[in-house]
Amino acid sequence: MFAQLPAVLVVLLLAGVLVQAASIPKTTADNKGNLVHRNLWNCNAHFFQHALPKNATLERVQMVPAGGTFGEGTANIPYPYQPTNLPPLCAVIVNVTSSPSSSFRFGLLLPVFWNSRFLAVGNGGFAGGINWLSAGSGTHYGFAVVSTDTGHNGSVTDATWALNAPEKQADWGWRSLHGSVTLGKALTAAYYGGRKVRYSYFSGCSTGGRQGMKEVQVSPDSFDGALIGSAAWDTNNLNTYVTQLGIYNLPVGAPNYIAYTRFPVVAEQVRAQCDAADGVRDGIVSAPEQCRFDFTKLQCGSPGVVLNASACFTAPQIQTLKNIYSDWRDSRTGAYLYPGLLMGSEDMWLAGTLLGYAAPSPFGIGFAQDFVYNDSSWRWQTFNDSIVETARRINPGQATADQYDLSAFRRRGGKIIMYHGLADGLVPTKGSELYYNRTQQAMGGATKHLGDFLRLFMIPGMQHCYNTAVDAPWYINGEFQADLMGTGLWSVPGFADTRHDALLALMEWTEHGRAPDAIIATTWNTPTNPLSGVLRQRPLCPYPQTAKWMRHLDINKASSWYCSA
Ligand SMILES: *[C@@H]1O[C@H](CO)[C@@H](O)[C@H](O)[C@H]1NC(C)=O
Ligand SMILES: *[C@@H]1O[C@H](CO)[C@@H](O)[C@H](O)[C@H]1NC(C)=O
Ligand SMILES: *[C@@H]1O[C@H](CO)[C@@H](O)[C@H](O)[C@H]1NC(C)=O
Ligand SMILES: *[C@@H]1O[C@H](CO)[C@@H](O)[C@H](O)[C@H]1NC(C)=O
Ligand SMILES: *[C@@H]1O[C@H](CO)[C@@H](O)[C@H](O)[C@H]1NC(C)=O
Ligand SMILES: *[C@@H]1O[C@H](CO)[C@@H](O)[C@H](O)[C@H]1NC(C)=O
Ligand SMILES: *[C@@H]1O[C@H](CO)[C@@H](O)[C@H](O)[C@H]1NC(C)=O
Repeated sequence: MFAQLPAVLVVLLLAGVLVQAASIPKTTADNKGNLVHRNLWNCNAHFFQHALPKNATLERVQMVPAGGTFGEGTANIPYPYQPTNLPPLCAVIVNVTSSPSSSFRFGLLLPVFWNSRFLAVGNGGFAGGINWLSAGSGTHYGFAVVSTDTGHNGSVTDATWALNAPEKQADWGWRSLHGSVTLGKALTAAYYGGRKVRYSYFSGCSTGGRQGMKEVQVSPDSFDGALIGSAAWDTNNLNTYVTQLGIYNLPVGAPNYIAYTRFPVVAEQVRAQCDAADGVRDGIVSAPEQCRFDFTKLQCGSPGVVLNASACFTAPQIQTLKNIYSDWRDSRTGAYLYPGLLMGSEDMWLAGTLLGYAAPSPFGIGFAQDFVYNDSSWRWQTFNDSIVETARRINPGQATADQYDLSAFRRRGGKIIMYHGLADGLVPTKGSELYYNRTQQAMGGATKHLGDFLRLFMIPGMQHCYNTAVDAPWYINGEFQADLMGTGLWSVPGFADTRHDALLALMEWTEHGRAPDAIIATTWNTPTNPLSGVLRQRPLCPYPQTAKWMRHLDINKASSWYCSA
């Protein structure tokens, strides 16, 4: 940075910086009593090169001024958007060799005003790239934040890098996050003069939810608290299920096929029949499992049909709908393989599951070709249920996060907040319920409450990780939520407190033992634009509790609702 300046000026400048730095106390306390460490010394290549182990190299180190930006632009295929309006920080990119045939990179953001805490953020789908937006968002809290590229460079739907590359699969499966957290924490401590990281957190959604859950299982000491959203935790069963799901509505033009232009009709009928199942008619299907849906109202020629001849569905199409809403069972043994989609997810069938396209989702096809069968010519037309057995036997990359006994994590005081949108049309909502149930079984049986360390919050009307098509309160600052609204946002705009921000709620629970009995979700008049004004707020409740409306009070206000079983 000093390349163009005469040497004498450089010396003067450096001296000035040193005098200035020396006059700032290295440690002060902020208004919450947290120690805040100001660090101006170590943001240089020399420091990091010496701090790194032999298997890691420094790719970049850069001081980012207040209000600045950092990232890789379009060289980062899945995460080209850079965070803006950053607090002053030191940005680092490190490349770690993970095996003779693989390596992963991570970004580490080290704020000048550090809150003594560490945060790791997750990725999405098969995305190979450092998630700069989510990382940037975390620095506003004062976290030192790490994000890994998961060991490859590619788009969210591209799995071709995984073909015959078990080491790369392992990086994506768990090793890149584990290595980034371990080394990221060590660098953080060294950078701030050997001070200990006081608390370590994780926030991730979708694949990010899987990554966090896997890390808790692999290394119970990595995090003190984990925020786990819409988790795609069961790679073997889920990434095969999405192929089966697509096949329910294929091939195009067959009697069972439903064109995507008809999905809104299904959504409307589901709302008509299921909206009130929770006792409140508000446009949000909040209790889909309590809805006794009458398919004959949609079926052409049936006595109760409410749709006209051009809008109604034929018997084979009705069967397709039933399949989509059913749990997936092995066609030979009847064994339970994965839960199906919930009623209320229809608005996401096209964009999420890609129902209505000519082939199943790339999350399914890529997994079958590049992770399971090692055969890029494999065709979905040959799909059968034995793929689950095969996938589970191979367990590619050990990505599946299916250890249910989290005793070691619980024993050391770890806390987990899980959440999942009830209108998720990509990763079935009931998958989170399944993980919760199995954890309960593994840790003492159905009567044993997990609530002292693990709570699951369903978000009625929320789609996959974020957003709503039905004006449902959805925003709790889960991963990607702030990113959806802009490049410089963080927390819950206007409500940055422990009641509305799930990350702050997790910190409150972890550090002060105050468990979240509810988290208030928010939506705006334009769901992704806080400047449009708050439309609705409503508490989310720890499963199996649900939010109950106090009749006659304003349905759009959080105070009109309470949680109960
Ligand atoms: C990722 O690959 C693209 C080409 O497909 C390239 O332009 C880009 O520089 C690569 N990014 C990284 C971080 O290696
Ligand atoms: C990371 O380092 C490995 C091993 O030196 C190298 O093969 C790889 O190209 C590096 N990755 C990037 C993105 O530079
Ligand atoms: C890199 O080296 C460190 C120190 O030797 C070791 O603990 C770590 O496991 C290695 N990381 C990977 C990804 O191999
Ligand atoms: C049939 O119902 C659909 C959906 O409600 C409506 O858009 C269409 O106009 C109706 N067609 C006729 C012929 O009534
Ligand atoms: C695919 O390759 C992996 C090794 O990379 C192997 O373990 C696995 O069994 C292969 N899959 C099949 C279906 O043979
Ligand atoms: C199921 O699929 C696998 C992999 O394509 C194939 O080897 C097997 O023969 C199929 N089984 C049946 C019963 O079709
Ligand atoms: C979880 O357990 C509850 C209570 O036993 C049960 O009602 C629910 O169906 C289970 N959900 C799943 C997905 O297994």
